[in-house]
Amino acid sequence: MRISEHYSAWAAAYDSDRNLTRDLDALVTRELLGALRVRSILELGCGTGKNTALLAQIGAQVQALDFAPGMLARARAKLRATNVTFTEADLTQPWPCADQAVDLVVGNLVLEHIADLGFIFAEVARVLAPGGRCLISELHPFRQYLGAQATFTQADAQIRIPAYVHHISEFIHTAAAAGLTLTALHERWHAEDQGKPPRILALLFTKPS
Ligand SMILES: C[S@@+](CC[C@H](N)C(=O)[O-])C[C@H]1O[C@@H](n2cnc3c(N)ncnc32)[C@H](O)[C@@H]1O
Repeated sequence: MRISEHYSAWAAAYDSDRNLTRDLDALVTRELLGALRVRSILELGCGTGKNTALLAQIGAQVQALDFAPGMLARARAKLRATNVTFTEADLTQPWPCADQAVDLVVGNLVLEHIADLGFIFAEVARVLAPGGRCLISELHPFRQYLGAQATFTQADAQIRIPAYVHHISEFIHTAAAAGLTLTALHERWHAEDQGKPPRILALLFTKPS
């Protein structure tokens, strides 16, 4: 099964399954972006729209991309904001977005499924307006070293969705090679994570003006 098919199969239960990483990512995203107000936002791998509702509040226009039809169907059903457009698109192919068109790119829990970060950050740099920002929030690689991976249950079987480990230095160096400047790095734990490595790695980048 392909990754998009796995996510379409997970879509109905994605929001209600116990998932501390999903929940912490939502909190971190609200904390880091909640006070921002921008014209246009591009969301990468929006899934069921967990973070899209927040983005619709802080951005005048939001374009949300995902390649899993099942996830997009859930997002469209949940969020009827008139300033949000959901588009089926594979992030490993050129994005349906004009050069320098957006103020903020946001990607949550998606890059673990993409091997080549070079293409992703080159596209981020292409679509961002000068001075634009990018938030990447991912399952922390320390957790991946311990075996954590996006997993759901289907017909009583545990399905582990194929994932790649990207080390912190890889995110930073690959973004720098695309011309993006790291402006903040956050490591976050869920309340139930005492004594464990950080669960979420959140990186903020800026495209120089
Ligand atoms: C773990 S979910 C995260 C969804 C949402 N961002 C959130 O935080 O809840 C990962 C999402 O990334 C999408 N995705 C993974 N690889 C992708 C790709 N190459 N192109 C577009 N979407 C992709 C999946 O379909 C899925 O909806």
